[in-house]
Amino acid sequence: MTEWHKSTWRNLPRVQMPDYPDASALNAVEAQLSKYPPLVFAGEARKLKKALGAASRGEAFLLQGGDCAEAFDQFSANAIRDTFKVMLQMAMVLTYGAKVPVVKVGRMAGQFAKPRSAPTEMVDGVELPSYRGDIINDLAATREARAPDPQRMLQAYLQAAATLNLLRAFSTGGYADVHQVHSWTLGFTEGEKAGRFRDMANRISDTLDFMKAAGLDSAARHELQTVDFYTSHEALLLEYEEALCRLDSTSGKWLAGSGHMVWIGDRTRQPDGAHVEFCAGVQNPIGLKCGPSMTADDLKVLMAKLNPQNEEGRLTLIARFGAGKVGEHLPRLIKTVREEGAKVLWVCDPMHGNTIKSASGYKTRPFDSVLREVREFFGVHKAEGTVAGGVHFEMTGQDVTECIGGVHAVTDENLQDRYHTACDPRLNASQSLELAFLVAEELSQARADRQAAAS
Ligand code: PEP
Ligand code: CO
Repeated sequence: MTEWHKSTWRNLPRVQMPDYPDASALNAVEAQLSKYPPLVFAGEARKLKKALGAASRGEAFLLQGGDCAEAFDQFSANAIRDTFKVMLQMAMVLTYGAKVPVVKVGRMAGQFAKPRSAPTEMVDGVELPSYRGDIINDLAATREARAPDPQRMLQAYLQAAATLNLLRAFSTGGYADVHQVHSWTLGFTEGEKAGRFRDMANRISDTLDFMKAAGLDSAARHELQTVDFYTSHEALLLEYEEALCRLDSTSGKWLAGSGHMVWIGDRTRQPDGAHVEFCAGVQNPIGLKCGPSMTADDLKVLMAKLNPQNEEGRLTLIARFGAGKVGEHLPRLIKTVREEGAKVLWVCDPMHGNTIKSASGYKTRPFDSVLREVREFFGVHKAEGTVAGGVHFEMTGQDVTECIGGVHAVTDENLQDRYHTACDPRLNASQSLELAFLVAEELSQARADRQAAAS
């Protein structure tokens, strides 16, 4: 066996990656990116790994969410702030409702490359190479726009760096201070869930006032005023990932410097493929999407390759089967994990198994299916006595109409109103909050059941 290096993936079969027509242009970009600073640091990735380990034991809960695909033309401070704000709101609902610390991980600052179901797509009767995310090609419906251009990696890096800079400022500069909980409600002035959020915010404010009066808040100042917010994306475009890979001098281990956590998609998880090879050698927490086609044999090999030391928090299995299919697939994979004695964190992605084409022709997701898959996920873990450790959503703080349903019932006819996603349909802010309340209920029930079983 050859020793792992950040470039050993190049010797293995690769799927879903572009063939760049101009090798020297590609090499020039790779050389440039290799000199740029990493976006994240090894100590941060290790801290996240520890937090994910706690989630795998049921002592914390992972909330992972953001765009399906970040896009160059939707890049703005307001969009970043609004997604960050909804994540804070959701995390608050979960922390308060389920009394468990929430590990916050954005699909942000790097989520630019997309796997596609086919290499070409029909746009207005013309067959074009598929759009593969802004880091690779352009969504515009021309042959030139769809040609892969390595220069786009530099643009993605700059956007990721600026996004992360703003996220770091929001996390520690006062915006995420829990005393501001009321200001996060802006934008949700109507509806039953908004009312519930406001009630909760009032109770939190009362508690904070009490803590202050009792002289308890100064000891907890750092915890109350800042949050840890991490970034993640699918490690799909391996030229970009390799160029940002760095050797960490403290541990002597490699780090994917492109984000705190990276995951392997359901279409790129071939056990002997390039994507698994790359992720096996970096020390970051790794996610692995598990769809209905995941076999026990593949999962065994993947767990052994991706987490040979059986380290807690290293491997997150992101189940994405689709509503109605969780009962068929999750128990058999839990059984495999159990047989191997593997330490994993189980997370539910209720988005990617629930995509349909609506009557009006839009790609959408029924909100009811999303809710149902979450419930089924918790139900199976309850029956198996295992830990439902987190959720993974495609969502935005913008008031989009991409998924059908929710309290402000988005209908098929509404989809055209504000359908802005560059790829898959996302939950809007109000749907995200509704989901957070459901997850909080499931989670507090699960914790109560576990405590009852233990006593
Ligand atoms: C995604 O998370 O955007 C994605 C493509 O998911 P999956 O690999 O599970 O289909
Ligand atoms: Co998606």
